[in-house]
Amino acid sequence: MKVDVLLGLQWGDEGKGKVVDVLTPRYDVVARFQGGPNAGHTLEFEGKKYVLRSIPSGIFQQGQTNIIGNGVVLDPVLFREEAEALEKSGVDLRKNLKISKKAHLILPTHRLLDAANERAKGSAKIGTTGKGIGPTYTDKISRNGLRVGDIFNDFEAKYTKARDLHVARLKQMGENPDFAELEAKWLDSLEYLRKFDIIDSEYEINNYLNDNKSVLCEGAQGTMLDVDFGSYPFVTSSNTVCAGACSGLGVAPNRIGEVFGIFKAYCTRVGSGPFPTELFDETGKKIRDIGHEYGAVTGRERRCGWIDLVALKYAIMLNGVTQLIMMKSDVLDSFDEIKACVAYEIDGKITDRFPFDVEDVEIKPVYKTLPGWKTDMTAIKSEDEFPAAFVDYIKFLENELKTPITIVSVGPDRAQTIVRK
Ligand code: GDP
Ligand code: IMO
Ligand code: MG
Repeated sequence: MKVDVLLGLQWGDEGKGKVVDVLTPRYDVVARFQGGPNAGHTLEFEGKKYVLRSIPSGIFQQGQTNIIGNGVVLDPVLFREEAEALEKSGVDLRKNLKISKKAHLILPTHRLLDAANERAKGSAKIGTTGKGIGPTYTDKISRNGLRVGDIFNDFEAKYTKARDLHVARLKQMGENPDFAELEAKWLDSLEYLRKFDIIDSEYEINNYLNDNKSVLCEGAQGTMLDVDFGSYPFVTSSNTVCAGACSGLGVAPNRIGEVFGIFKAYCTRVGSGPFPTELFDETGKKIRDIGHEYGAVTGRERRCGWIDLVALKYAIMLNGVTQLIMMKSDVLDSFDEIKACVAYEIDGKITDRFPFDVEDVEIKPVYKTLPGWKTDMTAIKSEDEFPAAFVDYIKFLENELKTPITIVSVGPDRAQTIVRK
């Protein structure tokens, strides 16, 4: 059996949570492989809305096993808040959620370091979610991190050592760290965490596969935020690309099956950093208003622009995408015309490559303009009902991207999803 991977092809917030929830009935296991509570994955069904941050989006379906993998970074305080809210709404987390021993812990001082690093960068700040993601992965790579499995074994000494290193660093940076209250809450949350099924997730997942069980891996963030391939340094601190599922779960590359690449019919970005097709005009505002483009975690305004096929082709190449999923086309339902960036003009030269120095060069997007479909598609149930101009838009994208679009989402609800034949 192979594992399928679903991941974002843009700058995050493509609608991963919604589609993982929709696809979960096809699988036995759903697993997160990277990122942490910087993610905000929204699900809507039966008139209710949920935002998940560390817990996989398969948790609401019928009894699938959900795994937080070794590549994830976990904040016990935020985990507890999220998990308690789910337990209150009747989700059996003790039975359906498992956590890797090797997932790294976000310490209270990681959050302080995240904020201090941003302050030190001044106007060049990344615009992080402030959840301590960068500093936690930094400690992982520099071999100073603490892992979930550590909480069962001589934890206090390990914690104190790590915390004191952070405090020294913060003081060096001119900060005056005060986190007694947060620390008490954090230590208390560890007791809650201990009651979960903490596992060797790499063995568990491979055993599932050997037993012919199916696994869906849920990406967080998006390909253009990948630490290697995104618009560095304006990226997150993990590998958001498909290869991240291998290292973040202990799955060998030859076990990857379908790769679902998910994108919005336009483009958004939150935080700083390059965004070649960003719109600063009324059209950008209209997309933001109709699409409710405000961060699920931070509430920050998302920057909006036209779809960028140069960046999308790059993302499809990096991930080996086998199927595309298009989200939020309903946001464009009332538009007379829709634009798609098909190339970049840099220094008078046309290119279809995403440049290394994307932050430093001036990129002029080359647009193709397509007619809008001018139809409310939010109640459409099957592709037979697609307006002709929408069919043409899909054909145009498939032709450019050389990959089939197999699912189209026309609204936030679970039911507003069209699987194409
Ligand atoms: P994720 O981080 O990739 O899971 O995406 P987010 O949840 O951060 O952002 C996606 C937003 O769009 C959420 O508010 C969803 O409820 C909403 N959404 C998802 N799919 C659709 C869609 O097809 N149409 C519309 N209008 N909204 C959608
Ligand atoms: P989901 O999973 C959108 C962005 C931040 C910032 C950069 C680095 O919901 O798609 P970090 O806190 O990770 O160090 O911030 O990455 N970012 C996201 N943008 N969606 C996300 O997650 C994001 N997670 C991080 O805004 O620009
Ligand atoms: Mg999100």
